[in-house]
Order: sequence, then structure tokens, then C-alpha cells
Amino acid sequence: MGRRVYAILGDPVSHSLSPAIHNAAFRAAGRKARYEARAVSASECGTTLRRLALRGGGGNVTVPHKERALPFLDRRTEAVAATGACNTFWAEDGAVWGDNTDVAGFQTVWREATAGRAGPLDVLVLGAGGAARAVVAALLGDRRTGRIGLWNRTPERARAVVRHFGSPCAVALADWRSSGADALVNATSAGMNGGPAPVDLRLLAQPPGAVLDLVYGRESTALVRQAKGMGVAATDGRQMLLRQAEASYERWFGEPPPQGVMRCALG
Ligand code: ATR
Repeated sequence: MGRRVYAILGDPVSHSLSPAIHNAAFRAAGRKARYEARAVSASECGTTLRRLALRGGGGNVTVPHKERALPFLDRRTEAVAATGACNTFWAEDGAVWGDNTDVAGFQTVWREATAGRAGPLDVLVLGAGGAARAVVAALLGDRRTGRIGLWNRTPERARAVVRHFGSPCAVALADWRSSGADALVNATSAGMNGGPAPVDLRLLAQPPGAVLDLVYGRESTALVRQAKGMGVAATDGRQMLLRQAEASYERWFGEPPPQGVMRCALG
């Protein structure tokens, strides 16, 4: 077989670090494969995904197509079923599979950020797209999680996510300011490309114990900068990018990527 092609499908994708980290892992493992960034429209996403997978490759799906990818899958993992979103695809025995490795990726990041902390941990989650669904699914799988408050710019979408999970632990918030959370997770895309943070942390009734921003950029995000300025422990989305990428690679090849290579490629 020729070189297998993997790609990140989304719009925009030019800022994505996925090609750099996956190509570094492919090279280090000696795989005959390459990973590309492809900007695709909603109507192109499904056909591109299936073509790549059925030719022996695969890839990732990102903003804004993670939910739209679902009808193009033949099989889905539990994480896709739980979140209604797909970020990883490949084919097995002629069937196109989808997984959502954002769930496992966030679980790892969350465990690292809260190591040694007993529950219950109350969490304020900003956003109501595929990333927010992955965060809520991961948090509901952690016995230490107390109350999950979900806030979104468009409130109806936050209420829809809460209905989707149907857990008494997760509630939609009309106002993020009154939340006294142990941790704040930004699962919106606000802050991308050096843009402003989704919220002003100084307006919170109580500063959170930790801030996990799923957004990353060349520089640290406005939210992470503000958190650190207030003495709050904060990480940007690079860690999450790394963990979900490791999990995707493992889905494609049945083994983890060579250790340390992806982290090194992140710079
Ligand atoms: P993904 O699947 O990656 O989560 P998405 O479904 O497009 O992507 O969701 C993006 C999220 O970021 C949404 O919650 C969106 O809010 P709306 O539902 O109101 O659109 C949120 N978002 C994007 N830009 C934002 C901004 N400037 N401020 C606050 N929230 C923002």
C-alpha cells in the first residue's frame, strides 16, 4: 500500500498544530503515512472523511464539524454516543468508525490538574458545543465531581446539553458570575487567534481554584494570562491537544505514539 493519508477536517484549520505533532510521531515510528490540514465546508466534510478512512487512512474533525460528522459514520464508540460529537475517524473491515478522544484527553488533563484533590469538586464549564459535551462526559465519569454548572453565550444550547446528559449533577446557568467553582473550564472557542477571553475572571463571586482553557495559540490565551495574574493555576489547550492526539493515534495504529515525540513537536 502507498502512503496513508490522515487529515484534520475543519474550518479554519490553518492554525492547527495537529499536522506537526502527528507527522512527528509518524516519522519517529517509521510509518508510511502523512497528516494534512484540510479546510472543508459542511457539505464536503462527510465525503472527505469517508474517502480518507476507506483508503486506509483517517483523521480528526474539528470546529465546526464535530457534530455534523455523525451521519457519515458506520460505527461509533461510547464516547461518540455520549457526546453526540466525533473528533477521530478511521476504517476497520470496510466500516468507518468514529471516536471522540476529547473525552479521554480531557480526563487525563483533568486528573493532572486536580491530582491529590478530594471531591466534591464543583466545576464551571463555559460553552455548549462538541468540546463542552466532551468535558461534561469526562467530568460525569469522575467520582470526585460535585456540581457542573454550564454557561453558554446562547443559553438554549447550554440547556440542550444538560437535557442530553440528563444528570442531576449538571445544571445550566443563566449567569456565570455567581458561580463559586473549584475549577473553570473554557470549552468555547473564545480566545482563539489572540482574541478576548470569554469571561472576566475578576467578576466571579469567588476566584476558581484552577482554570483549564481548551483554546491554544502561539502565545498564551487572554484567559490564562488573566488567571495567572490573579495567582490562579492555569493551563491552555496544548495539554488537551496532546492528550487527545495520543488517544487518536492509538485508535489508528493500536499502540501509543513513541513517547515524548508529540510533546517535543509542540515546542
Ligand atoms: P466545538 O464543537 O469545538 O465546541 P462549536 O460547536 O462551534 O465548536 O461551539 C463553539 C462554542 O464556543 C459555543 O458554545 C459558542 O457559543 P454559542 O453557542 O453562543 O455560539 C462559543 N463561543 C464562540 N465564540 C464565543 C465568544 N466570543 N464568546 C463566548 N462564547 C463563544
